[in-house]
Amino acid sequence: MTEVGIDGIEIWAGKLELDLAETFAPAQDDDPGKYTKGLGLYSSSLPDVYEDIVTMAANASKRLLERKGLTPDDIGRIDVATESSFDKSKPISTYVAGCLEQTFEGDFHHANKGERKFACVSGTQALDDAYNWIRAGRNRGRKALVIATDTALYERDDPGEATQGAGAVAMLIDEDPDVTALSDAQGFGSADETDFLKPNQQFPSVDGKRSMQVYLARMREAMMDFERNGGDTHPDNFELIPFHTPFPGMVRKAAVLGYRHCIRDTEIEDELAEEIGRQPRPEAFDDEEEYLDAVKEYTEALGETDAYADWYERTVQPTLAISEQVGNWYTGSVHIARAAGLAEALEEGRELSGRDLLVASYGSGAQAEIHAETVQPGWEDEIAQLNIQEQIESREPIDFEQYEAIHDVHNHDAETDMEPLTTPEGEFVFDGWGRMGERKYTYVE
Ligand code: COA
Repeated sequence: MTEVGIDGIEIWAGKLELDLAETFAPAQDDDPGKYTKGLGLYSSSLPDVYEDIVTMAANASKRLLERKGLTPDDIGRIDVATESSFDKSKPISTYVAGCLEQTFEGDFHHANKGERKFACVSGTQALDDAYNWIRAGRNRGRKALVIATDTALYERDDPGEATQGAGAVAMLIDEDPDVTALSDAQGFGSADETDFLKPNQQFPSVDGKRSMQVYLARMREAMMDFERNGGDTHPDNFELIPFHTPFPGMVRKAAVLGYRHCIRDTEIEDELAEEIGRQPRPEAFDDEEEYLDAVKEYTEALGETDAYADWYERTVQPTLAISEQVGNWYTGSVHIARAAGLAEALEEGRELSGRDLLVASYGSGAQAEIHAETVQPGWEDEIAQLNIQEQIESREPIDFEQYEAIHDVHNHDAETDMEPLTTPEGEFVFDGWGRMGERKYTYVE
């Protein structure tokens, strides 16, 4: 059967850089260690005045289509995943298509466009939709453009403010893909949860601590579902494990729990038994609290072992390299984790072709999805073309006053008039409002 999966990836980061330790922490009267060590974040990427979810999505997509030598006729589907939409009816994909039509010959009139919503997991859901569309044979040789784009901003002084970020990831989904092939094995963990939501409001209502618990609970459920559906989660099966990364500290918490789950009843648990004992089993305890205490103690000891450190260093740490510099990109977050992991592996000369990734996506509200992907022979050439590190390095650093002003610029309820801090070049920009309240865009040479 022909493989279907990700044929190309492009990433576009918001152009401004808020340094969390140097600029944000002192203004909040916080120890910088809370950000760099606790949350594992160094800086946030934020959009300049002329940037938004449409410009970032269109800019990433333009680069992707050009690099792959494609025209609008080659695209049969455009899905945008976002939780920052400014329009409740007209999907962001139509705005993006309108932008791209300004610079490409032809149009996207025969592409099916939509918008996917389920907090941060919707980027992966859009990927699944594209995969299913191609697998069903309804694509007629055409490819899907899947874009995850967000301005992940919180209310000022919300604890989530520390984890903000903005950027877009554009992915081309096709047969015979160059980056990864998706497999049919999937697991879901989904429940009606109230941890993070935006009931008719721009900035989220967040119960941060609860959202972390829900993330872990739904991931565990998804992992068990993945296993029931034939997925083998032995830790040696996977070269990289990109997680949804609201901040790297969250992934650190999830990784050790995941490792504990995956080594149960394997030779790894046996080998570690002499050092830290075997995992507590519920049937050996009369009291649930005692069992949970024993599990906690075992997990802490497991996190200190060399076996865990080696596994984490190889499969998880590389996936955090972009996130720690840009913050949370909501729908794009797990997709920058995949890209970061592959980019680090390329730099280290790791041979990944034919090897598997385990992709762990999550969205508040809440749903986790676990699926496997197989790295394809073209991955090195594709990943070598990413320029995200250059984008990160060339961002414009902002001071706290500028941060406050730019937050207001992107706050739909605040009135501000601010000059851009950077000069756009060769990109789409937001340039004002149309007669029906629509946002308008032009391409700047
Ligand atoms: N040095 C080292 N670590 C430090 C530190 C210091 N000086 N100061 C604090 N820390 C650690 C804390 O111990 C904590 O780590 P722990 O969770 O392992 O104990 C971490 O830094 C964060 O500090 P905390 O005080 O818990 O932060 P907070 O209460 O301001 O908020 C979130 C943290 C994640 C709840 C908040 O950022 C949030 O609401 N984010 C949005 C929701 C989200 O992303 N949820 C995740 C699931 S999607």
